[in-house]
Amino acid sequence: MKIIKTIKSLRVFVSAARNAARTIGFVPTMGALHRGHISLIERSGKHGDFVVVSIFVNPTQFGPKEDLAKYPRPLRNDLRICEDHGVDVVFVPDAEEMYREEELTWVNVDKISEPLCGRFRPGHFRGVATVCAKLFNIVQPDVAYFGQKDAQQLAVIKRMAADLNFPLKVISCPTVRETDGLALSSRNRYLSPQQRKDATCIHRSLRTAHEMIEAGRTNPKTIVAKIRKIITAAKSLSSIDYISIVDADTLRDVSRITGKVLIAIAARFGSTRLIDNLTVDCRAR
Ligand code: PAJ
Repeated sequence: MKIIKTIKSLRVFVSAARNAARTIGFVPTMGALHRGHISLIERSGKHGDFVVVSIFVNPTQFGPKEDLAKYPRPLRNDLRICEDHGVDVVFVPDAEEMYREEELTWVNVDKISEPLCGRFRPGHFRGVATVCAKLFNIVQPDVAYFGQKDAQQLAVIKRMAADLNFPLKVISCPTVRETDGLALSSRNRYLSPQQRKDATCIHRSLRTAHEMIEAGRTNPKTIVAKIRKIITAAKSLSSIDYISIVDADTLRDVSRITGKVLIAIAARFGSTRLIDNLTVDCRAR
């Protein structure tokens, strides 16, 4: 496994694989790797790709009051995980390698960046779209793997790739969970034991919502109210950013649950912000 810090040598190394007719698979991450990230790496490996993983805690997607400084950076362990899972190249640039002193070009994906997390994290998706566009141009992958856990991010990246004609396929991978349902996240390690226990209410509420829709409920307000009731019962909850039921493609609010909808939640336990979601396809019923 090659560990590369500069754009120049990354390009040389990946182009050698491309010239050897390998499919380039790319898994962008911010490190602190867990089974969620590993599932993306394994998916790329199973696909037969030359697997490139990036580890870069991207400063431009964090707000001024967010956790950039304290975001976990267990690089040695991350590299071991990559090695153990057959990664070919790990790209670990520093911020100076990725950004000029004054960056003038930004990628904004309108509309789908605005609701849900976009309302609570201004500039977040601009930072995500920009860094992914840069990484796509650096790595030039054939396939890029993203987790459904960050459903809005996935929608933003898919749209950006289509609108800007990136010659790559964006693959969405299912959310990996703990046995009690909590979605794996690098931020789970911030939770106290009580908060960790309580945080399972998010997935529990999503399952209840799913059951209600399966039972024929079509009014999103009724379902959102039920989710809110389950989540607010958690002792260590600090606040709920949003509970939304939106069209799975446009991310616009729906007035009636038909077609494919995304139920998305963001809630805070202490200062830790957790997100989770579930897609329900009513057409499949
Ligand atoms: P990060 O949070 O490290 O996540 C990297 C990838 O892992 C994302 O595609 C994310 O959706 C996926 N992932 C995280 N938790 C998961 C889980 N429990 N199950 C399945 N997949 C999961 O997302 C980012 O980094 C950054 O915004 C990035 C795209 C790298 C741009 O900086």
